[in-house]
Amino acid sequence: MIKKCYSHNKHAHLLRSFFKEYKEELVNHISREDETVFPYAIKIEDNYLSRDQTVQEEQFTEGYTIDFYRSEHNNIEEKLFDLKNIIIKYLPSPENQALCSKVLSALFILEQDMNDHSRIEDNVLIPKVILMEKAVRQ
Ligand SMILES: [Fe+2]
Repeated sequence: MIKKCYSHNKHAHLLRSFFKEYKEELVNHISREDETVFPYAIKIEDNYLSRDQTVQEEQFTEGYTIDFYRSEHNNIEEKLFDLKNIIIKYLPSPENQALCSKVLSALFILEQDMNDHSRIEDNVLIPKVILMEKAVRQ
């Protein structure tokens, strides 16, 4: 998009670096969830369902609680919102309008997906894990 829509704009590199930062943030967010949060939620659920009293909490959670995740959970959709605004409000008319519209359209869809992602985590995953944690740790 930058090459084909803003090749003559001297500030277009700012868009590239903003996008690069957003991408890193998104990848880190997803990795943390895949490597830590979701395996933890599955272990808590397994323990909750099996009610295996022989397994001590520390053996499977290593002190982790969903509260750590909730407190560090950043809203990845906010930066995406900013990215869209930079393109719409602050960049000049693109050289390739059709391509720019396609990219913007994809960003709107991604934003909707990320909003759904966050809403499910905040309203379904976290409350469910909190309830299971309470039951398991009684
Ligand atoms: Fe998330």
